[in-house]
Amino acid sequence: MVDLVLDLDTGIDDAIALSIAAKDKGINLLGVTCTYGNVTVEESAYNTLSLLSLLHREDVPVYIGRNRSLLSSSPYTPREAGRKIHGKYGSGDIKLKESPRKPEPISAKAFLTSLMKEREDITIVTTGPMTNLASILIDEPSLSKWKGKIVFMGGALTVRGNVNHFAEANIYKDPESAKTVLESGLDITMIGLDVTERTRLYRKDAEKWKEKGSELGLTLGSLLDYYLDNTLGMDETYVHDPSAVITVLHPEYFTFLPFPLTVETEGIDRGRVIIDDKRLLSRKGEIKVALDVNRRLLEGFLADIEKYL
Ligand code: RIB
Ligand code: CA
Repeated sequence: MVDLVLDLDTGIDDAIALSIAAKDKGINLLGVTCTYGNVTVEESAYNTLSLLSLLHREDVPVYIGRNRSLLSSSPYTPREAGRKIHGKYGSGDIKLKESPRKPEPISAKAFLTSLMKEREDITIVTTGPMTNLASILIDEPSLSKWKGKIVFMGGALTVRGNVNHFAEANIYKDPESAKTVLESGLDITMIGLDVTERTRLYRKDAEKWKEKGSELGLTLGSLLDYYLDNTLGMDETYVHDPSAVITVLHPEYFTFLPFPLTVETEGIDRGRVIIDDKRLLSRKGEIKVALDVNRRLLEGFLADIEKYL
C-alpha cells in the first residue's frame, strides 16, 4: 500500500486520476493539495471536494495551494484553451455539486512541509504546475534531502509539446517552479507526453461508466465525454494525469531511463524540459523518465476502472 498525496489542478483528467487514487486498494490517499492550471486554485479545491464526496472519501483532507506561478504578481486565470478542454469550471458542461465540506484551514504548503518533515515513506504525485512543491523547496532547502518520492505529470522530452512545439502545459505555466523541483536532487519520476500520448481513453469507457447508473459513474462518464469532444475531437483521447497515478501502482507498465533534467526558462524554448548537459558527466540528481508504456496493460487497467463506480 502506497501512502500518497495528490497535488491537482482539478480538471477532467485530474478527476480521473483522483478517482483511481481514492478508490484503488493499493493507495492510501493522505490528502489532496490544490494548485491552479486547468482552473483557478479555488475551483480546483471546489471540484476536488465535490468529487471526493461522490467517491465517498469525505475523510480525505483538501488543502488550497498557491494561486499563481513563482514569478507572477497576480492570481492565475485559466487560458481560453484550458477552459475549452476542461470546461468553464473544469468539469465539462456541468458544474459539480458543492460539497458541504470546506478546504482545511492550513495551506497546502504548510500541510506538505510538515508531512515531509515527519515522514519519508510517502509519494507525492503532481498533475499541474509544481508551484506548491517549489515554494517548499525554496523556503526549506534542507527538504531537498527528503527521501520520499515525487511523480510528476508534465514535460515532453522526446516528443513535441502541447502548448507549442517545445513546452507541455503543466511546465509552461510555471517553468521556474519546475526547474527548482527538477534540479533539487529529490527522487523524481517524470510522466510526460512521451508516454501519456501513447495510450488512450475511449468513448466506450465513458459509455460503460454512465451505464453504471451511480452518481459517480454518470458524472465521470459525462466528464470523459466532454474531454473526448474537446481534446482530439474523436472517440479516443490521451491519458495524461491518470498515467501518473497508475505509475505508482504499476511501474512495470512503463520503461524508464535516468537523465539529469532541467527546464529552459528563456526564449522560445521557455517551459521546455531538457537534459541538463552540465550534469551529464556527474549524472547527479537523475530523474526516472518514462519513455515507453505498455499500451495493452495500461488501457486494460483503465478499462477496469468501472469497478470503482
Ligand atoms: O499537458 C497535460 C496536462 O495539462 C494535464 O495535467 C492536464 O490536466 C493539464 O493540466
Ligand atoms: Ca492536470
